[in-house]
Amino acid sequence: MSLANLMSKAEEKGSRLILALDLLGPKDYCSSRAVYLLSILRDYVIGVKIGHPLTLSIGIKGVLDIIKQYSSEYFFIADFKLADVPHIMKATVKVLVDMGFNAVITHLFPMSIDELVPFSHGLNASIIGVLMMSHKGAILFEKNLSVLLDYARGVGVDGVVVGATKPMYIKLARERLNRDQLIFAPGVIRQGATAGEALKFGADFEIVGRAIYEASDPLLSARRIVESEREALHDQ
Ligand code: XMP
Repeated sequence: MSLANLMSKAEEKGSRLILALDLLGPKDYCSSRAVYLLSILRDYVIGVKIGHPLTLSIGIKGVLDIIKQYSSEYFFIADFKLADVPHIMKATVKVLVDMGFNAVITHLFPMSIDELVPFSHGLNASIIGVLMMSHKGAILFEKNLSVLLDYARGVGVDGVVVGATKPMYIKLARERLNRDQLIFAPGVIRQGATAGEALKFGADFEIVGRAIYEASDPLLSARRIVESEREALHDQ
């Protein structure tokens, strides 16, 4: 499924919110919590990002079951931040797409995804490259941003990740990437960025984890985030 499908879901639900489902803990608890969250958040969340935390907690079979159950309602993004040589990247992405993931996040810095992007499109899946990380010590990303941006644009990744805590880089990425290359911004609320802020700087989607799945009322939290996003987009 291409990112155009994610944008259609965004328009349908009036939301730019992607849930980072980073549940970590006992298998049964994480499985039932994941199912509970996805069953209540469907009106506000358009995509679900799954990575090491949930996969290590509930296993590949557990992740497969969740994707199977909710594949018609959410766009599923695999976030294992892949950074390997080309043939391993292709083999890994093939397995993830066979599991039902619609997009896969990879690192850009190994510069090993030239063949992966068209290969993934052939599988009807999208590639999202990590362009900038949200934490303070991400100096190597900052120093090499221009090179990474040129590479991302050149290989035609479908999207990039830029931390919402660094809105100036979102703005720069929006200026330098093609318009159909979409920007995903994590780091909202718990890492300091306010909901909707990244969208104002040119991001297309916001990724939120703890502020939703650790909230006493996850539905209310998701609703408030989406309302802030709608205001941010309306003000533009
Ligand atoms: P929280 O709980 O902070 O979760 O809302 C954030 C989620 O997003 C991921 N994350 C990042 N991924 N570049 C990335 O590629 C970043 O700058 C970044 N910041 C946060 C993190 O893995 C978690 O799933």
